[in-house]
This record gives sequence, structure tokens and C-alpha cells, in this order.
Amino acid sequence: MKIVAIVGSIRKDSYNMQIAKTMVERYKEKLNIEIADIRSLPYFDQDEELNPPQSVKEFKDSIANADGVIIITPEYNWSVPGVLKNALDWTSRVERVFLNKPVMTLGATPGQMGTIRAQLHLREILVAPGIQARVLPPGGNEVLINMVNQKVDEAKGEIVDETTLNFLDSKINTFIDFIKSN
Ligand code: FNR
Repeated sequence: MKIVAIVGSIRKDSYNMQIAKTMVERYKEKLNIEIADIRSLPYFDQDEELNPPQSVKEFKDSIANADGVIIITPEYNWSVPGVLKNALDWTSRVERVFLNKPVMTLGATPGQMGTIRAQLHLREILVAPGIQARVLPPGGNEVLINMVNQKVDEAKGEIVDETTLNFLDSKINTFIDFIKSN
């Protein structure tokens, strides 16, 4: 199965990117996860949408060709970071590549709340008319990783907390079933 991972942080030592990289490695036997490059996307410009820059074309093509998308994002000021919203805005016009696309969302923060407010906003964005993704329903499927700084091995740059990894394993299997059930 081909999966695109979109990480809502472009910070060099991003915890959310560490989760993405952990997932690429940990699930490589069952999933081909490719981490999208959203750093190279310019600001969304409606004047450019019919003939967008190459980076946008490649980003949209990768989503169009994927079986599913995993969005891994921090919370900025109780919402999603602008870089993530910008990337999603590009996908929502002309070819609407998220239409019915299976999507799983998760996020991590060193804080206590595990990105819950950002996740709620993200769910609203993903059902906007231009996006209309098929999002893994809430109610047991939220992957909210709080106090993430205590759950990574900074030197290795990966998640090492066993409880978190076990939970992630079970939710990835749920997502695979969700994709297959389309
Ligand atoms: C934050 N942070 C943060 N954390 C949180 O739990 N809720 C929030 O609303 C915010 N708001 C916020 C705004 C801005 C501009 C920054 C830079 C940070 C803290 C944030 O969770 C922390 O910096 C994470 O480490 C960011 O994720 P990455 O870059 O490690 O993936």
C-alpha cells in the first residue's frame, strides 16, 4: 500500500517528523510510506492554481496516486500550523486530490493536551467542499501523543516509548482496514 505522510512542522528536529520517520521504518513491511516535502511549496496563490509550480504538481500527484494519507501535525496556537493549511489549500482546487482519499490524522506535542484542538480543526478542514477526504472516524482512533519529549530518543530521532508504539501499531492496522473497506 502506498501512503503519503504530511508532516505539519518543517523544524529540523521536529518531534512530528520523528514520528513520521519512525512509522516509515516500523511499517515498511506492510506500507510504503513516503514523506511529502511541504517546505518547498510556495504560499497558495489563486492566480497560480491553473498552472502551479512543479513542487505543487508533484505534491498533488503524490496524493492522487496514494492509497491513503497520514497527517502528522503539531498544534500551533490551538490550530494547525500555517505550513500545513497552506499545503492543504493547494490540494483543494482544480484537481481535488483529497476527494474520498482515506486519511488518518495524528499529532504530538511536549504539552499535556496532545494536539487535540489542532486535530479538531484539522477534521473540519478535511471535510471542506474542496477537500472532502474520507477521514478515519474519531471515537477511539485519535492518536494524540502528549509529552512527546519524554517518548523519543533524541539521539536516534525516533519514538521509543513502548506504550505509544503499541498504540500506533493498533491504529495503523485500523487505518489499513479502513483503506481496504473503501
Ligand atoms: C507551539 N506549541 C504549542 N503546543 C501546544 O500543545 N498547543 C499550542 O497551541 C501550541 N502553540 C504553539 C505555537 C507556536 C508558534 C509554536 C512554535 C509552538 C508548542 C509545540 O507543540 C512544540 O513547539 C512542538 O515541539 C512543535 O512540534 P514539532 O516541530 O516538534 O513537530
